[in-house]
Amino acid sequence: MRKPFIGGNWKCNGTKQTVKNLVNLLNTSFNNKIDIVCAPPVLHLDYVYNNLNESYKLAIQNVWTSSNQGAYTGEITPDMVADFGITWVIIGHSERRHKVANESNKLLFDKVTSSLNCGLKVIYCVGETLKDRESNSTFSVIKSQLNFLLNNLNYTQLNDIVIAYEPVWAIGTGRNATPEQADEVHAYIRSLFYQIKDSIRIIYGGSVKPNNAKKLIEMPNIDGFLVGGCSLKKDFLDIINIVK
Ligand code: PGA
Repeated sequence: MRKPFIGGNWKCNGTKQTVKNLVNLLNTSFNNKIDIVCAPPVLHLDYVYNNLNESYKLAIQNVWTSSNQGAYTGEITPDMVADFGITWVIIGHSERRHKVANESNKLLFDKVTSSLNCGLKVIYCVGETLKDRESNSTFSVIKSQLNFLLNNLNYTQLNDIVIAYEPVWAIGTGRNATPEQADEVHAYIRSLFYQIKDSIRIIYGGSVKPNNAKKLIEMPNIDGFLVGGCSLKKDFLDIINIVK
């Protein structure tokens, strides 16, 4: 039985006041049945770390490729993250792959290995664009995004990774994948991790809302969600209640 997992990706949102309000809201809920991981912008991590109740773990939204500290202006190394007490990192989000930084599969793999080496757990995101889907390339694109992990990591390392399937065309668009579309890709990803197929958690992301979460979570291969827009409001608690 896989423990459900819900991530809240706050992305690049928040002022001191809105973050305080959100923390107060999240603190109205206690849970120990499922894993819940919130990823605030890095400037707010300290406040959230010190004020959010222990139902929640925290993730950083990005990390540098190695633990060599030094002349890398603007970057944060995985050992700094671990030293701070943050336990998770999001790697490979489509906004970083396609929009913000053009991150390649090799660069992302370096981030994954250095994070795992520092004891961090990884939410590793994959997903096809609309063009990929329309040209029937969904599976091959997903496989290419996973290849470095599949070929180079051992089972213990893989068990510290949650895979987030986030079709790019569904992120922030209000257009979620149908439960069947999502489950088909989740089943494919699970087959790629056949040695740990019963334990690896594969979560869905892309316009998850309280009104579509129930049907999605009922699918056999969907173990939870990575939530963007709805992680900033009460909807997040509603989604947690649907899953737990
Ligand atoms: P969304 O974002 O829920 O706003 O679609 C999901 C994500 O980008 O992780």
